Amino acid sequence: MNPTTTTSGRRVAVVTGANKGVGFGIVRALCKQFDGDVILTARNVDRGQQAVADLNQEGLRPRFHQLDITDTDSVDALATFLKDNYDGLDVLVNNAAIKFRREAGVPFPRRIKETVGCNFFGTLSVTRRLWPLLRPHARVVNVTCFCISSTITEFSQDLLSQLLKPDLTMAQLELLLQDYVRKGEMGGHFRVGWPTDAEYAVSKVGVCLMSAILSREAVDDSRGDIVVNACCPGHVRTDMSRYEGSLTVDQGADTPMYLSLLPRNAARPRGQFLAERTVAKWW
Ligand SMILES: NC(=O)c1ccc[n+]([C@@H]2O[C@H](COP(=O)([O-])OP(=O)(O)OC[C@H]3O[C@@H](n4cnc5c(N)ncnc54)[C@H](OP(=O)(O)O)[C@@H]3O)[C@@H](O)[C@H]2O)c1
Repeated sequence: MNPTTTTSGRRVAVVTGANKGVGFGIVRALCKQFDGDVILTARNVDRGQQAVADLNQEGLRPRFHQLDITDTDSVDALATFLKDNYDGLDVLVNNAAIKFRREAGVPFPRRIKETVGCNFFGTLSVTRRLWPLLRPHARVVNVTCFCISSTITEFSQDLLSQLLKPDLTMAQLELLLQDYVRKGEMGGHFRVGWPTDAEYAVSKVGVCLMSAILSREAVDDSRGDIVVNACCPGHVRTDMSRYEGSLTVDQGADTPMYLSLLPRNAARPRGQFLAERTVAKWW
């Protein structure tokens, strides 16, 4: 498709971090099952365009747009592209994330800042910026990780009671995670109740809580039937898992796809965490 073609009104889905891994599998599945355009986004243009070319070889036709979820100019550019070309958004899959390997020797202050910065604050930034574009019946899917259920036992009771209170606001959640990063950078986060060496899982706990808050906000949204959920793709063979997972990227795409294509006005799941298409309790 010519990138200058205006497709206003046409349904459109966006997947973040989709040049490889689970995100690539989600784009492939959306191209086959979603009734509209699919935008494969990647922070690196060459890697993203190569992924599009690979899918073209399979006869699939995603469009490409650059997106670094930690770069507000990049997020703005995607929002402008969607506004100009579609005047809306029907499916947003927040898949992009990072996870440092311990043996890489990256100091904890940098790990915690970059991991929470990308996985939590980057995801929040994209969602906030694109939220006004969501159309009635839009689906927002946040890819998190089942590892949160084991990490949650390492939080102090005091911190848990703050994080898990049913009326937690986004502003409160942001403040708590900012505090975690600040304390982590000073090496004192565990003294105030955060897990010791688990910045990836903490960032994903944040994304799960973010999903529940957004879901509550969507209830009063006049557009109607905007559904937000979080999910784990399972243990998938990707760079992040060092190819140790049991699932292919297409299998890992299954639950994110299920949530992306939830039928109109489905009563549930809403604001939940799912694994294998099933609502799972993680705390
Ligand atoms: N694999 C598993 O077993 C597993 C298990 C549980 C949860 N998950 C979750 O599943 C999702 C996908 O993971 P994966 O295994 O497919 O990982 P992956 O192969 O490492 O892919 C991660 C993707 O995110 C992109 N990304 C990283 N930082 C970004 C940024 N700032 N802006 C935009 N894109 C960025 C990467 O781009 P580059 O190529 O440029 O780095 C890549 O495309 C993640 O949310 C992960 O936490 C995975």
